[in-house]
Amino acid sequence: MDIYGQYHDSLILIQKLMTDRLEELNRQVCENGQAKLYEHLTSRIKTNASMVEKCQRKGYPVTTESALRRCRDAIGFRIVCNFIDDISRNLRALNQADWCTIVKEKDYITHAKPNGYRSYHVILDLTTPYEDVDGHTPGHYYVEIQLRTIAMDSWASLEHEMKYKHNIKDPERIERELKRCAEQLASCDIQMQTIRQLIHENDKE
Ligand code: GTP
Ligand code: MG
Repeated sequence: MDIYGQYHDSLILIQKLMTDRLEELNRQVCENGQAKLYEHLTSRIKTNASMVEKCQRKGYPVTTESALRRCRDAIGFRIVCNFIDDISRNLRALNQADWCTIVKEKDYITHAKPNGYRSYHVILDLTTPYEDVDGHTPGHYYVEIQLRTIAMDSWASLEHEMKYKHNIKDPERIERELKRCAEQLASCDIQMQTIRQLIHENDKE
């Protein structure tokens, strides 16, 4: 039996439900003639092994309750945006949506992690048609969303890949170089944002 027990199927259904809702938000915005909210979406259910490892690492009992309540990233989404400003547009859309509540926010964009990691993390409390671990229907489920630009996403993917290469001779050098890349990408994001703004103003004239 995996750590999610009888709730595993609901997690998969909620992942689909959430995808549909985010796609619907994007469709509405586009129909109103505005730029798309995001470039693409990805999502995953945290594997049984990773969730068990996380509970152990955090000192939680290895139970379904810990996996769905104490940990709040069993369902994870990434909203990857073209421009930095699109991140706040997505946050506004989520704040306005009646099917979820933002219960926690971490702004690693204003306050990048020391290694250079940038992203805006939110935990949503989602009301769903499915029974939850407390036995309630409609049930409450948490979803973690990481909002980032394409540049932030490419940095995070490469950094994640390299984290697991342990036989590096000069890790401090690698860390320095990675951080420098993160800063250059962040500066590109700002330039791109400025270019979009200039095009937008040009169109209005
Ligand atoms: P855990 O969920 O236990 O990892 O801790 P947390 O909730 O305190 O973490 P946080 O919100 O800072 O980050 C959770 C997720 O963000 C990770 O699982 C990664 O997907 C992503 N993340 C955070 N920091 C980094 C980083 O330095 N590099 C990369 N590539 N991803 C990161
Ligand atoms: Mg987390």
